[in-house]
Amino acid sequence: MESHSPYLDEQRQQPLRIYFIPFLAAGHILPLSDIARVFAARGHHVTIITTPSNAQIIRTSTPHHPNFLLHTVPFPSQELGLPDGIENLSDTFDDDTFMKVFNGMDTLREPIEHFLGRHPPDCIVADFMFPWVEDLANKLRVPRLVFNGFSLFAICAVESFRAHPVPPDASPPFLIHDFPHTVTMNATPPTLLREVLESTLEAELRSHGIILNNFVELDGEEYVQYYERTTGHKVWHLGPACLLHGTAEEKAERGQKSVLSVQKCMSWLDSKNPNSVVYICFGSLCCFPDCQLYEIACAVEASGCEFIWVVREKEGKEEEEEMKEKWLPKGFEERNSKKGIIIRGWAPQVLILRHSAVGGFLSHCGWNSTVEAISAGVPMITWPMHSEQFYNEKLITEVRGVGVEVGVDEWRSTGYGQREKVVGRGRIEVAIRRLMDGGNESQEIRVRAQELGKKARAAVQEGGSSFNNFTALIDELKRLRDCKHED
Ligand SMILES: *[C@@H]1O[C@H](CO)[C@@H](O)[C@H](O)[C@H]1NC(C)=O
Ligand SMILES: *[C@@H]1O[C@H](CO)[C@@H](O)[C@H](O)[C@H]1NC(C)=O
Ligand SMILES: *[C@@H]1O[C@H](CO)[C@@H](O)[C@H](O)[C@H]1NC(C)=O
Ligand SMILES: *[C@@H]1O[C@H](CO)[C@@H](O)[C@H](O)[C@H]1NC(C)=O
Repeated sequence: MESHSPYLDEQRQQPLRIYFIPFLAAGHILPLSDIARVFAARGHHVTIITTPSNAQIIRTSTPHHPNFLLHTVPFPSQELGLPDGIENLSDTFDDDTFMKVFNGMDTLREPIEHFLGRHPPDCIVADFMFPWVEDLANKLRVPRLVFNGFSLFAICAVESFRAHPVPPDASPPFLIHDFPHTVTMNATPPTLLREVLESTLEAELRSHGIILNNFVELDGEEYVQYYERTTGHKVWHLGPACLLHGTAEEKAERGQKSVLSVQKCMSWLDSKNPNSVVYICFGSLCCFPDCQLYEIACAVEASGCEFIWVVREKEGKEEEEEMKEKWLPKGFEERNSKKGIIIRGWAPQVLILRHSAVGGFLSHCGWNSTVEAISAGVPMITWPMHSEQFYNEKLITEVRGVGVEVGVDEWRSTGYGQREKVVGRGRIEVAIRRLMDGGNESQEIRVRAQELGKKARAAVQEGGSSFNNFTALIDELKRLRDCKHED
């Protein structure tokens, strides 16, 4: 196979044809498109398969390239009882809408199968939430890669608990078995979530390998080795996606146009001292009840810190006035008119995090947000809520030492629905102060965060770890294609 057959040499020069199938949520669509765009820039033919309104988002947020194409398949909003154009989970406000969009994604299978059958690619990259792509890839005899929106650290934790299950009646804390670091979990995932995570991991292990929106230095080589040793499976770190292309101005427009004008936000930050502002945002899928927002407001005010706080807009603008009353302490906005900004809706998160005035990020530890903070060298205040976020918290705080924890232990399947516990203002205030007070601990954390940010930027440069992982992956895919053509 490694002979000098002129036929093979010619083959190897041929661009690859790769299809990408992103899961329909902001934190999945944009990073995967960024990654896909790199394959296009390296001369390969890329097609993203998605629904019309999500295609529109990708079109406006990913820099144009002639090798980067979009193929749309319909999304049956009407049949699902959804308003026209609601095609991703970032538009959902409650469990019911969430489930409708979620279930609607199953209908993508048929048209995608049809398209693939007519135009078979050399490789399919699908989100790990779409395990059914396995059958399609097998039928076409093409390799399938899985885009996993988690950190490898979290995947390894899921794998460890799969191999060493916790007895059903046991209660936390739980040590993660046989791990490169001593990590103890103080919360347990709901059974349903654990089953979902484990079964997607199993489907993933039948793929050709996983690609991640992360860089090796953040997960650590020890977790790459752990993963390969325990699963015998391959992984490529191709991120941080948010550093792969595009200017800051383009980034501002991503996802959705931010509600507050970007300029206003930036000039407010320009007037602040370095590392003095705490940025608070719990991601595009999370909706807190009013009583929780109230506790956050009290904590922020008591901490004395300057802040930018993103609150997800609830449905129906008319309710806004009434809503404001309930979740903000009386006179909060007047008292804090100089100290802080509340953004209702979407914020230019990447730009905010990159501003030198921002010294901390109070976050739910969703992977996308975590990568954005780390890439910007901003330390975190961790408040995990659902999915795999409790594992991310451990990586951020105990393993890499780039954040402090609020100390929550209510682990849910999704960001919606009633939560049993309200996290009290005292605990939130303590965590904010611990990071923002300029003391020894906070300085050490800040230095480590800045160093990790430098490594993130180096990873995507020529010769960096992610750059080289891209090259290794392309070589591997060419090898697979050429083997196939030989037999
Ligand atoms: C989700 O879809 C809506 C259109 O319905 C769009 O406005 C929004 O930007 C989308 N979000 C992402 C990140 O794809
Ligand atoms: C997710 O990631 C993309 C790309 O890195 C970014 O532009 C977007 O703002 C992120 N945030 C959310 C909440 O989706
Ligand atoms: C802060 O650093 C100084 C000097 O290194 C040390 O003496 C002191 O104990 C430290 N304080 C804390 C809280 O770690
Ligand atoms: C990705 O990069 C890391 C760090 O340079 C390296 O150890 C690893 O082998 C690379 N992975 C692949 C699959 O080439």
